[in-house]
Amino acid sequence: MKRRILIVEDEEKLSRVIELQLVSAGFDVDKAGTGEEGLKLADRANLVLTDLRLPGMDGLELLHAIHRQNSQVPVVVMTAYGTVEVAVEAMKAGAVDFLLKPFSLEHLMAVVGKALELTQLRDENRELKEELGRRYQFDNIVGRSPAMQEIFGTISRVAGSRATVLLAGESGVGKDLIARAIHFHSNRRERPFVKINCTAIPENLMESELFGYEKGAFTGASTTKPGKFEQADTGTVFLDEIGDVPPSIQVKLLRILQEREFERLGSNKTRHIDVRIVAATNADLRQALEQGTFREDLYYRLNVVPINIPPLRDRREDIAYLAEHFVAKLAKETGSETRGVTPAGVERLLGYHWPGNVRELENVIERSVVLCGCVMLDAPDIRLDMSPQRPQPAAAGTFLPEGMTLDQYEQSIIREALKRAAGNKSQAARLLGLTRNALRYRLTQMGLDSADASNGA
Ligand SMILES: Nc1ncnc2c1ncn2[C@@H]1O[C@H](COP(=O)(O)OP(=O)(O)O)[C@@H](O)[C@H]1O
Ligand SMILES: [Mg+2]
Repeated sequence: MKRRILIVEDEEKLSRVIELQLVSAGFDVDKAGTGEEGLKLADRANLVLTDLRLPGMDGLELLHAIHRQNSQVPVVVMTAYGTVEVAVEAMKAGAVDFLLKPFSLEHLMAVVGKALELTQLRDENRELKEELGRRYQFDNIVGRSPAMQEIFGTISRVAGSRATVLLAGESGVGKDLIARAIHFHSNRRERPFVKINCTAIPENLMESELFGYEKGAFTGASTTKPGKFEQADTGTVFLDEIGDVPPSIQVKLLRILQEREFERLGSNKTRHIDVRIVAATNADLRQALEQGTFREDLYYRLNVVPINIPPLRDRREDIAYLAEHFVAKLAKETGSETRGVTPAGVERLLGYHWPGNVRELENVIERSVVLCGCVMLDAPDIRLDMSPQRPQPAAAGTFLPEGMTLDQYEQSIIREALKRAAGNKSQAARLLGLTRNALRYRLTQMGLDSADASNGA
């Protein structure tokens, strides 16, 4: 790509010499005889070479004006002997370099080369940063896995339209977060975002909640009340757990999706609304379709833009980034001292299966940070959920319960055996398939060998 250099110089001869030199070096050149003229051309330049003393707007003023335009173009000032102070002032004002007149063409090229190199570095640095931002984070949504990358792309592509989006994924994968991101990236961002949790509303109240009611529509309807859809007019409705909507309501949703119209309960006046609908499901909606509990036509109306969010265990490359994100979030919100996770800590997080997905990871990090109060979370500081796991033979793919060593696991089993045997060691040993002596040996190791060792004898 050819670089364009703007020369702002009222001395035509000098301007011409510089131009010839730059053109022969392969640059495109614009020339201006005044600061005012220069300012107009500064936008398309990759570098500005300006004399300091100019009729009208001088070089320093031009420099300020360029910066006021928020332009990142580097400026090199040229000045005659005796005005070094001004050159210094220009540097302070943000010029990248200066040339003292008279200067050799060689020196000119060196300064130009350096200035361009510097800005190229600066640009690359900025692009890199932007790319990093794009790569690992979209708003407050963190993810570097290909799946999340694709989701970021989809969000930006569809946010601007009114297209219905269907988010599918297990609980805790980020459906809420994504629904909000879609709303806040749309031109509806200033308009209401109304979330409707379809599971939380009892079936007999759902119609009135969603579509509103007129006074006297039912016993207890002492006033008229608009529903959630009306509240969301010109904004976005987020229908969470759409799979739980009963068939009687499914029909009405279908009508909203197709015609954008509905009636309040107890009214025959048809109302029109302009809402964008984002729906979420964690159950396999396809299964509900096959079983006939979810209308096929509604499904296709909802599934215009499907976004499938994989469980966290299927995108482990996000775990470390999410952990760092939550640590930083806690530091910001609670002033916690924790700054990160050690490699061993990350290893530990990677080894876990995250049944509760990102929500669980967030909770684990929060609990670990609170309980540890340390600067870096190390493996032992990570407090994973120790929800009881059904014991299964190792052959079935299970291993030690998360976070336990073999010794700890053995000890917990021995304790359990003692409990079941009501403290009788012979019986406990039988339960464990050990001789009484073998059990006693283990108890000694555990520091549990006791004077009552003969109790069970
Ligand atoms: N990719 C992500 N980046 C940052 N935080 C996330 C991400 N996914 C989920 N979270 C956080 O995890 C928690 C659960 O997410 P949520 O959107 O409520 O999940 P869902 O609606 O799928 O159950 C929230 O606190 C959310 O902010
Ligand atoms: Mg949710």
